[in-house]
Amino acid sequence: MDTEKPPTIHLRNYKPPAHLIETVSLDVKLHATDTRVRSTLAIVPNPKSSIKNAPLVLDGENLTLHSVAIDGDRLPSSSYAVTPTSLTIKATPRKPFRLDMETGLSPKDNTELSGLYLSNGIYCTQCEAEGFRRITYFLDRPDVMSRFTVRLEADRAEAPVLLANGNPKTEGDVPGTNRHFAVWDDPFPKPAYLFAMVGGDLAVATDSFTTRSGRKVELRVYVEPGKEDRCAWAMESIKSSMAWDETAFGREYDLDIFMVVAVSMFNMGAMENKGLNVFNDKYVLAKPDSATDLDYINIEAIIAHEYFHNWTGNRITCRDWFQLCLKEGLTVFRDQEFSSDMRSRAVKRIQDVRTLRAQQFPEDAGPLAHPVRPASYIEINNFYTATVYEKGAEVVRMMKTLLGAETFRRAMDLYFDRHDGEAATIEQFVACMEDASGKSLKQFFRWYEQSGTPEVTMRGKWNAKAKTFDLTLSQKLAPTPGQAKKEPMHIPLAIGLVGPNGHDMQLDIAGTDISGEPVIELKEKTKTFRFRNVGSRPVPSINRGFSAPIKLRTDLAQKDLLFLMGSDSDSFNRWEAGQTIARGLIGDAIKKLKSGRGIAEPKAYAAALRQTLSDDRLDPQFLSLMLTLPTEQDVAGEMARNVDPALVHRAREKIRARLGEALDGDLTRIWRTTKVAGAYAPDPDSSGKRALRHAALGLIAASDAKRGAKLAFDHFLSATNMTDTIGALSVLTQLDVPQRDEALEQFLAANGKDHLLVDKWFALNAQLPFPEAPRRVRDLLDHPQFSWQSPNRLRSLIGSFATLNPVGFHAEDGAGYRLLADVVIRLDRSNPQVAARLAGSFKSYKSLEAGRRTLARKALKSILKTEPLSRDTYEIVSRSIA
Ligand code: BES
Ligand code: ZN
Repeated sequence: MDTEKPPTIHLRNYKPPAHLIETVSLDVKLHATDTRVRSTLAIVPNPKSSIKNAPLVLDGENLTLHSVAIDGDRLPSSSYAVTPTSLTIKATPRKPFRLDMETGLSPKDNTELSGLYLSNGIYCTQCEAEGFRRITYFLDRPDVMSRFTVRLEADRAEAPVLLANGNPKTEGDVPGTNRHFAVWDDPFPKPAYLFAMVGGDLAVATDSFTTRSGRKVELRVYVEPGKEDRCAWAMESIKSSMAWDETAFGREYDLDIFMVVAVSMFNMGAMENKGLNVFNDKYVLAKPDSATDLDYINIEAIIAHEYFHNWTGNRITCRDWFQLCLKEGLTVFRDQEFSSDMRSRAVKRIQDVRTLRAQQFPEDAGPLAHPVRPASYIEINNFYTATVYEKGAEVVRMMKTLLGAETFRRAMDLYFDRHDGEAATIEQFVACMEDASGKSLKQFFRWYEQSGTPEVTMRGKWNAKAKTFDLTLSQKLAPTPGQAKKEPMHIPLAIGLVGPNGHDMQLDIAGTDISGEPVIELKEKTKTFRFRNVGSRPVPSINRGFSAPIKLRTDLAQKDLLFLMGSDSDSFNRWEAGQTIARGLIGDAIKKLKSGRGIAEPKAYAAALRQTLSDDRLDPQFLSLMLTLPTEQDVAGEMARNVDPALVHRAREKIRARLGEALDGDLTRIWRTTKVAGAYAPDPDSSGKRALRHAALGLIAASDAKRGAKLAFDHFLSATNMTDTIGALSVLTQLDVPQRDEALEQFLAANGKDHLLVDKWFALNAQLPFPEAPRRVRDLLDHPQFSWQSPNRLRSLIGSFATLNPVGFHAEDGAGYRLLADVVIRLDRSNPQVAARLAGSFKSYKSLEAGRRTLARKALKSILKTEPLSRDTYEIVSRSIA
């Protein structure tokens, strides 16, 4: 940092604001370098504040103040003070008053992409978390909720479309000029972070949706001109989301119009501004020859997520930013449920757990670990994390499991009823769960406060004579930064006992009601659950559907796992049993590679997979997941210390190769029989078939690179949709074969004008799993198509390299770490948010073997000694090193 360390903000210091802002009227004259904002605020003393006579301290950054007046009287400069981050009005009336200000700003120079900026010539805003203060002075905190009216004015040629939150009121020309205006009014009070405005030359797709109560809502998707043919899927997704929220949660939309605007320069995925969602265009634009199945699935899920925020986030918002998971964890839970209902629930659950293990578990195990509701932060933007989002969603899911679906729904209704229009807290949310169920969630609340992933150990003992089965469960939670001592968690475990015939036994535990979906609750450090009337030896199936986000260690023998893999009625645990076996195989292979021994064919595992693959009742997407080994992050996470990522990679590849050999006939059959005929559609069955086909191709290539390369290259040449193209390229980029660079070149030559496909090209290049990858990635920084201004381009090249290419990133000489540090240092000057996020890729360095750990630490230190350094990057790097 320049001078001193940036301050830390603590949850325990929360105080209600001394003032509230009831209404806001903005008059914005858009201009690339001198946008003028006139703002009129109706300010009242906050009856809930204990502070009397407080000066009014407004937040503001990168603004030029032109004038300020109270109740129409212009203030002399002695009555107020301006700092780089605030405007303080020393004395204010003790009654309601009007504050008028005029400020100026330069969207063109806004490289942080926070506040008002230009994305490829389009004016747009991003105000969460603290961007509104870069538009005008304000009480920029979520517990200040105001009614906004906005008048936008711009050159008609430069910005023929003018949008803001709420409902459109009037529009027209500004007489005698080439300018025009539009007025928008949002009837719902909202915090400033939900404010948005857009101005530019945009094309639009329109449709409508009639809500359950008969209100007709106009739907619009705005995109850059020429991209109109890529909006249809996003539009369909809006309509399915609206319909789903009505049936699943009884929630209707509340304005006359709902708009989505797609822009190409965006720090995040998308933003839920009231009535005017702004999206990274990667999550809007889709047609078969430019978007993959995964893109289609992501678009549907993210459109849903932002739409669902209208109730969980907008109508009920957060009191302060510590409560972020109140809206994000809950809304991720809602979008997961939506996707489960739209597609396969079993597959969705497996994919979500894979993500959790690859992203959240490492976070929880490293120096950046923090509770789902953090207790302190330096820069709130650093807390939009896998823990707040994905673990936050798991915590909501556990409450649903504990309450049961019906009671959970009543608790949600109560929450919407009780807190509509308010800025709420996690305590208030959980109180609704308690009040609707009569259940105490006091101990459960620790899930919000204690960081780290609980480890649960299970031992089972069947007594043939007494016909009892004793299941002993113990829990352990390791210390995490700032939390040396931990208390036991309240862990809901969905459970079954599988009998020798492969069917679930009837469960009977003395004193416990386990009718319906059986769930046992572990609250103690150790507890034995005794099941009665167990006539034959059962195989316990624990944590079904991944009912709790824990690491489970069982005493199950390989043959029990193979049995569950083939017969468990819970499809998640079928998959999980396979993953547990595979993790063991990779672990073994690591030991053998270290001591130079050979790795045998995993016969029993292959046989079990073969049996699964031949079951044609199973969903092809599920089969593709059965064929996919645990990720390298997952395996490294299990090892916890002294990880050599290159060795993990080699071991996993060896197992893939042996599996490919063992399943050769089956894989070839899959390759031949899963070709999808007819026009492309992203439906679950055809996308599932493509996923299975590509999983098979990957294993074929792992066991026989030459054959795999030939199949993949032919597949690439004959592909008629982007899913097949990328499927082929993803296999080729993992191989050291001549077809790899040939295909990459052809891809860029054919798609170099489509920025989203150029992003895919950079991402593929970043993933070549070879120690020389850092060199290749560094060279690509000088590629004519690389851009330091585009977050998507940076994430494609650098983000993919650091998170999806363990071999390259962890190159033994530290070249990967140095590359990342250099990029972070340079990017920190223009876009600290994205720089800090990339710096987060060092999060697991402490678990590396000594050589790499030292090199990574050195790279982190080189960032920390840079001056000046943003708060964002400073916080991530200093916490990483601590
Ligand atoms: N509210 C966030 C967007 C956001 C995050 C704005 C951080 C400012 C700072 C939005 O609802 C969101 O969560 N978006 C996710 C995608 C979503 C599907 C999880 C994103 O942008 O990654
Ligand atoms: Zn969100």
